[in-house]
Amino acid sequence: MKVMLTARARFSAAHRLLNPAWDDARNVAVFGSCYNLHGHGHDYTLEVTVAGDVDPGTGMILNVKELKRVVDEKVIARVDHKNLNFDVPFLEGQNPTAETLALAFWKILEPEIPAGRLHEIRVLETENNVATVRRD
Ligand code: NI
Repeated sequence: MKVMLTARARFSAAHRLLNPAWDDARNVAVFGSCYNLHGHGHDYTLEVTVAGDVDPGTGMILNVKELKRVVDEKVIARVDHKNLNFDVPFLEGQNPTAETLALAFWKILEPEIPAGRLHEIRVLETENNVATVRRD
């Protein structure tokens, strides 16, 4: 049996999806309206799940307050109300899809969370569009 704990956070950000190596026609064909010149916004939900043994002294895997503090400081503060194409150094040169964000957030959070506990990161771009990164 595995016990998991999820912290959820919200952020709002703008982005434009494109591959700068492609011409307009190919970008439109692949990205559609997500390639619109001046971008568009999303209200994202980030879910960070840890897994592990429950400490008998605290009844917790991790203190959820501490988990939320790390997520807020290391991720949310760096992406909320930003343009993901221009304003976020750790996304520089990357196409800011939900998958790209989930991978980037994993790389940031993994070293901040006690060893091996980070289990899954989900980035919900909309309620119908979710990218997931999970420990193998
Ligand atoms: Ni979009």
